[in-house]
Amino acid sequence: MLTQRFAVPSLSDASIPEACRLGAPVEQRQYLCNGVIREWSGPFQDVFSPIGKVIDGTHQPLRIGSYPLLTEKEALQALDAAGAAYDNGRGEWPTMSVEERIRRVEAFGYRMQEQREVIVRLLMWEIGKPAAEAEAEFDRTVDYISDTIAALKDLDHVSSRFIIEQGVIAQIRRAPLGVVLCMGPFNYPLNETFATLIPALIMGNTAIVKAPKLGVLLHEPLLEAFRDCFPAGVVNTVYGDGQQVISPLLLSGRLNVLAFIGSSRVADQIRRQHPKSHRLRCVLGLEAKNAAVVLPDADLELAVRECCNGALAFNGQRCTALKILFVHEEILDTFLAKFCAAVGRLKGGLPWEAGVQITPLPEPGKTDYLTGLINDAIAKGARIINDDGGRVENTFMAPTVMYPVGPGMRLYVEEQFGPVVPIVPFSDIEEPMNYVLESDYGQQISLFGSDPDVLAELIDPLVNQVCRVNINSKCQRGPDAFPFTGRKDSAEGTLSVSDALLAFTIRTLVAAKENDTNRKIIKAILQERKSRFLSTDFIL
Ligand code: G3H
Repeated sequence: MLTQRFAVPSLSDASIPEACRLGAPVEQRQYLCNGVIREWSGPFQDVFSPIGKVIDGTHQPLRIGSYPLLTEKEALQALDAAGAAYDNGRGEWPTMSVEERIRRVEAFGYRMQEQREVIVRLLMWEIGKPAAEAEAEFDRTVDYISDTIAALKDLDHVSSRFIIEQGVIAQIRRAPLGVVLCMGPFNYPLNETFATLIPALIMGNTAIVKAPKLGVLLHEPLLEAFRDCFPAGVVNTVYGDGQQVISPLLLSGRLNVLAFIGSSRVADQIRRQHPKSHRLRCVLGLEAKNAAVVLPDADLELAVRECCNGALAFNGQRCTALKILFVHEEILDTFLAKFCAAVGRLKGGLPWEAGVQITPLPEPGKTDYLTGLINDAIAKGARIINDDGGRVENTFMAPTVMYPVGPGMRLYVEEQFGPVVPIVPFSDIEEPMNYVLESDYGQQISLFGSDPDVLAELIDPLVNQVCRVNINSKCQRGPDAFPFTGRKDSAEGTLSVSDALLAFTIRTLVAAKENDTNRKIIKAILQERKSRFLSTDFIL
């Protein structure tokens, strides 16, 4: 009976490996504001796991904890604290030496590692992420912190020198922007919150962190480390309903940067509330509908493996997931057979089960939404072509392969963000090319083929439509040193270990006419280390 595989009798069920048992619900009562971990006595939001509970054979939602539902008042207190810590760029943090800021972020990274087990466990329970992927998310975030530090050292090396142009001597560095609001998505609640928070902080900005709706509790184990490693007000956390805690921040006009990873609809709703939108820098990672194009000469074993993994890892809940596959008619039958066989080998189950890839879905109403997409496609001529496709067990949906999908179907254009794979047959390469051209999204594409001439002809127009063309591999964000961005509705700004340092800063320079007086002044400042900006100190 499937129900048993996606539900547990209790949080301490003996069949769950000990390290993965939650024990008691996590009742979060605290939030961080102005360097103090404050107790909240107002209303709380219950948190339910996508993993259900079976009582008398009936699947029921499993409550795993709660978190504070803060109000406008606490949101504005967080803003006051972040604003005071920044103090128009005169605060301790924005004026601190780069070396010292690096030391603080490094210390935070060490403290964070002490919480690995508990955060990985919460990733499994809160969003149903398979254990291996939850561990990878945590470890990737720790690596991201150390890579960011290394990138900042490089940047600082380049900035530690003077330039002389047309008789003007100058030193150019990057300076922080102010108060940053960081909001990550539910599918990478730790990693993609930190992918903006860490670079924002290390460059001297102060921050308010709003955890995503799903994936909140896993931030609580880090509150003490934030409090201990950074000056008061540099990191503040808010929880609760967006209207209550996000709108006041924007309406105040005192936010300088919105770092948001989620949907373009929500990003637009948030940003337009700022009274002077030109003052708000936005760093946005948004939705996508990445296509794979499988050409007649593709290595089919490889294409199937990459497409299966690219479309269905973590149930297809990745912005970079392959969300539509265009397969050439010449190899269609073989591809469909091999692809359905590969999908059939994916293991569904609870996040801690060995080798599991398909797990319960955390978004409320998600299986109904996906079923709606499937039914719409069926009504318009597509069919489910894999065993078990379309089957739903409460929050679990078996991976579903839909064929033939085409224009007019919702699955052709909507970002499903779930385990449904639409396959479109094509005979003329112009069909997938036009799809990309007309799409609202422009993140990445995957091309599978072996003829360099054909691939080269596709690459040149495609790089002007999307921001990464993957040859014979799935779409993905990593390695994190590579630029990650998108066109159209898919992104604004670029993230990567080094690009993020630029995204949260602005170039500022000190310049002087090159004459004896100015030379003397600059020399004195440098020799006596009077300024942290005007300095040739080299971080080792
Ligand atoms: O969900 C969007 C993420 O940026 C995807 O990242 O390609 O590393 O899974 P990933």
